[in-house]
Amino acid sequence: MTAIETHDLTKYYGDLCAIDHLTLSVDNEIFALLGPNGSGKTTTVLMLTTLLRPTEGTATVHGYDCATEGEKVRKHLSYVPQDMAVDIRLTGRENVIFFAKLYGVPDPRRQAEEALEIMELADRADDLVKTYSGGMRRRLELAQALVHNPAVLFLDEPTLGLDVAARKKIWEHIQELRGRGMTIFVTTHYMDEADKYCDRVAIISRGSIRAIGEPKALKAQLMKDVITAIISGEYSPVELSGIRYLGRKENEVTFTAENGREALPLIAESLSALGMKVHSLSLHEPTLDDVFLNVVGSSDEPRSFNDKQFRVMLRRR
Ligand SMILES: Nc1ncnc2c1ncn2[C@@H]1O[C@H](COP(=O)(O)OP(=O)(O)OP(=O)(O)O)[C@@H](O)[C@H]1O
Ligand SMILES: [Mg+2]
Repeated sequence: MTAIETHDLTKYYGDLCAIDHLTLSVDNEIFALLGPNGSGKTTTVLMLTTLLRPTEGTATVHGYDCATEGEKVRKHLSYVPQDMAVDIRLTGRENVIFFAKLYGVPDPRRQAEEALEIMELADRADDLVKTYSGGMRRRLELAQALVHNPAVLFLDEPTLGLDVAARKKIWEHIQELRGRGMTIFVTTHYMDEADKYCDRVAIISRGSIRAIGEPKALKAQLMKDVITAIISGEYSPVELSGIRYLGRKENEVTFTAENGREALPLIAESLSALGMKVHSLSLHEPTLDDVFLNVVGSSDEPRSFNDKQFRVMLRRR
């Protein structure tokens, strides 16, 4: 049975199309829905967890229809929302036992204990949650989510607002859960974390999937090197033979090329020739941020120059 399947899943809020015909199949993996603020990540999770009715299309979790078989769906999933879902006036243990009872698990105390152990919270379980750090609170939410041993776990922005060490720890726990056979559907706008820790990612923008696959495969769609130029002045996009323009974020212009070292001076010269001031140039291997820029791109259409035109342009300076 596939953990999560959607077919043409669509959500309108009034006239706003938040999710536009999303078709997905997720199973036995850590799958990340990646996208900027407002791209539709939470809306998707809410539909998959039966908390929001789709306008059109279907979604199933563990084989059950999210719209018509809500109770069965909810038996097989857990959901940790984007905002905190713990009661800070209770102890860690009380929070988890409360959830265990909500889920009707056979032995709430024992299962709560096990979940606290997995999340490395056993030694602080009797402290009030208001004394926990942000990272500990997130782990407590994960412990709550684990207590009924769900097949599918939904985590909306699990590392938002945490420091680097706490993020790493959360991801290590997520990977451990994946090792226990759970399917994990996570949303994030941290591309670097998705790259490092997820089996597959889908990049969404304005409610549509723009790219989907293993991070490595998505990065391989770009050329070997990525070059970023920080510029000022009136920007006009440019593309040279062998150097592909990826897009622009404010004053940062990005290109990809097979040989970045050779491309650097050509890019610098062409941007200067077109009247831009180049403040710095840097070279790196492709990241998911670059993939995002490539697939979502900017609306600028680059002016293309072949080698001959490029030489003419430089001579005219
Ligand atoms: N209840 C609602 N009513 C109307 N519009 C909504 C509602 N919830 C979300 N939206 C809109 O739908 C779009 C998608 O929102 P959503 O919260 O799913 O995005 P997101 O990717 O989770 O963003 P973030 O990264 O900020 O959490 C946005 O334009 C948002 O303003
Ligand atoms: Mg969200």
